[in-house]
Amino acid sequence: MDRTTTIETLILGAGAAGLFAAAHAGGDTVVIDHAKAPGEKIRISGGGRCNFTNLRTAPGNFLGANPHFHKSALSRYTPWDFLDLVGRHGIAWHEKTLGQLFCDGRATQIVAMLMAEAERAGAEVRLRTELVEIARDESGFRAVIETEGRRQELRARRVVVATGGKSIPKMGATGLAYRIAAQFGLPVTETRPGLVPFTFPDRFAPLSGVSLPVRATAGGASFDEAMLFTHRGLSGPAMLQVSSYWHEGEEIAVDLAPSGTLAQALKDAKRREGRKALKTVLAQQLPARLVDHLATEHALSGNIADQSDRAIDALCDSLRNWRMTPAGTEGYRTAEVTLGGVSTDALSSKTMEAKAVPGLHFIGECVDVTGWLGGYNFQWAWASGFAAGTAI
Ligand code: FDA
Repeated sequence: MDRTTTIETLILGAGAAGLFAAAHAGGDTVVIDHAKAPGEKIRISGGGRCNFTNLRTAPGNFLGANPHFHKSALSRYTPWDFLDLVGRHGIAWHEKTLGQLFCDGRATQIVAMLMAEAERAGAEVRLRTELVEIARDESGFRAVIETEGRRQELRARRVVVATGGKSIPKMGATGLAYRIAAQFGLPVTETRPGLVPFTFPDRFAPLSGVSLPVRATAGGASFDEAMLFTHRGLSGPAMLQVSSYWHEGEEIAVDLAPSGTLAQALKDAKRREGRKALKTVLAQQLPARLVDHLATEHALSGNIADQSDRAIDALCDSLRNWRMTPAGTEGYRTAEVTLGGVSTDALSSKTMEAKAVPGLHFIGECVDVTGWLGGYNFQWAWASGFAAGTAI
C-alpha cells in the first residue's frame, strides 16, 4: 500500500455530476472513476451530440418520492447558468425541439469543458481507479482505492458519491452508490429502469422502423411525441417517457391520431372519394405498414363509402385509444436512467449531504430524482453537483 494521503474532498465518479461538483469544490479534491475515460455517458448521449439541458426545466419534469426535494438545487443552478458556461467555452449549440439544447458539434466538447473546469478548480481526476473500501471515524473518511493494482489510503473530510445508477452496466454502471448508502444506514427507494423501450415479443416485428407522432399514456402521465416500432416492441421518445411512469403488468394507451382530425378526414374522404378502399384512405393519414397491421387487427375491409359515420367514429375511437400490456421493458441494458435511489428523506436539499452522516453527499442519478427525456437528467446532474460542490 502506498503512503496515506490526506485531502479535503474525495468524489466518487467522474461522470456528469461528479465532474461538475469537482469544478465547484475548492482545490484539494480527488475524483476517482473505474472507467478509462471520464464522462462516458455524456459522450454517447443525445446521439453523440449531448442534449445537455432543457430550457423548460421545471420541478414537474422530474419523478421521485418527494416532488419538492429537487426544487432548491434546480432553482440555484438553472439551464441559463449552464448555457452561460457553454458559451464561455465557445461550444456552439442549437435548440432541437421542446426546449432541448444540443451541441452543434460533438458531445465530447462537453466532457472536455467539464474536465477543464475541474482542473481549473484544482481537482485531480484519477481514472482506472476502484474504491476498495470506505469507512468513517471522528476525523472524517478513510478510503482505500486501487489504481492498476496499486493500493492507496486516502483520508478525506468529505466524500461525494456521484457513481450514477444501474443503467447500461456495459458502460460501467455498478450501483455502488446504493451499497455505500446502505453501508452508512441510509434508505434507498426501490430502483427500476426508466426511459426504456417496451418489449412485445413477436407482435410488432413486421412494423420495425415505422414511426409516427402519438399521444402515449401510462401511470397517469401522457406525452405527445414520436413512437417507433422496433423488432422487439415499442420505443421512440413517447414510449421512453411513459416507461418511467409504467409498472409491470399495467396497460399503456396510445392515441394514434392525437391531432383529433382523423374522423373528420375520413368522413370528408367518404364524400369526396367514396370508392377508395378504407385502407387506402387510412394510409393517407397513418403509415401504410401500420394500416396493414391494423387492418388485420380490426378486420378492416370495403370502401370508405361503405362505412357509416358511426362505424368511422367507432374505428377512430379505437385508434385513439389503442390499449395494450407490454411484456416488460428492455431493462437496464438499454435504459437511459435509473428510477428511485438514495432516498431524498435522508439528504439535505441544499447541500445534498446525508443528514445522519455529516460530510457524505450524494448527487446525480444515484439520488431518487429522475428527469424526463430531453436534457432534464443532465440539468439535475449539474444542479445537484453545484449544490454539493459549492457547499464544500
Ligand atoms: P454518470 O453515469 O454520468 O457517471 C457515473 C460515473 O461513475 C461513471 O463515470 C462511472 O464510470 C463511475 N462509476 C460507476 N461505478 C463506479 C465504481 N464502482 N467505481 C468507480 N467509478 C464508478 N440525459 C440527458 O439529460 N440528455 C441526454 O441527451 C441523455 N442521453 C443519454 C443517452 C444514453 C444512451 C444514456 C444511457 C443516458 C442518457 N442520459 C441523458 C442520462 C444521463 O447520461 C445521466 O442522467 C447522467 O449521466 C447521470 O450523471 P451521473 O454523474 O449521476 O452519472
